[in-house]
Amino acid sequence: MLGGVRVAAVVVAAGRGERFRQRLPKAFVSLAGRPLVLHAVEALSAVAAVSCVQPVVAREELSRFEALLAGAGELPKLAPAVAGGAERQDSVRAGLAVLPADCELVAVHDAARALVRPAAVARVIEVAKREGAAILAAPVQDTLKRVEKGRILETPDRASFWAAQTPQVFRVDCLREAHAKAVADGVRGTDDAALVERLGVEVHVVAGDADNFKLTHPQDLVLAEQILAQRSDRA
Ligand code: C5P
Repeated sequence: MLGGVRVAAVVVAAGRGERFRQRLPKAFVSLAGRPLVLHAVEALSAVAAVSCVQPVVAREELSRFEALLAGAGELPKLAPAVAGGAERQDSVRAGLAVLPADCELVAVHDAARALVRPAAVARVIEVAKREGAAILAAPVQDTLKRVEKGRILETPDRASFWAAQTPQVFRVDCLREAHAKAVADGVRGTDDAALVERLGVEVHVVAGDADNFKLTHPQDLVLAEQILAQRSDRA
């Protein structure tokens, strides 16, 4: 159903990535010879259901981004980058503001999740087409503790906990409303689903790949390089 729905992707890449401790902003750090943001943009572009990919980069990095595209292959779905904001939520809003008017769904993705697979993106988009809102997530592996002042308060049943990933896919009007309400209420969510949940909209969860992790610390680059090498061995 809804086969003709147009889907835009917003790739947020405007963070500084201070925990990454690299000379460049995180999105521009090289992974297997290509910057993280390019891996993410290529993975989303490879999904047939995605008709346009909107990158969001820090204002001072716009020209660096244009320069790296000159050396990349053809990316016909890619829109010109727009400048992000101080926090992730501001960057998502900047991307949402410039989407083509005919897009009904938007898939918001962190450039830092450079290893996302097009098949997983296609899966979450299919569910969002049907249900209106869906995110990739993975069941947590560790036992969780609720902690205050260095003491455990409780050990919740981990079976009901999932770690949110991206892409997170919503109706464009719904996500715009969620962001507007968050601004009006002074709320800062750590992901887009949290803002949509505040509207009372049900968000569906689709199992993502364990290797769709957010590159956060320097050692994550080593792991990501190994995963990419294994993938190309299998290809
Ligand atoms: O900092 P963290 O890794 O949690 O950021 C998640 C994603 O949000 C990254 O891809 C980062 O570039 C992006 N971001 C952004 N604008 C900000 C902060 C983060 O686009 N102001």
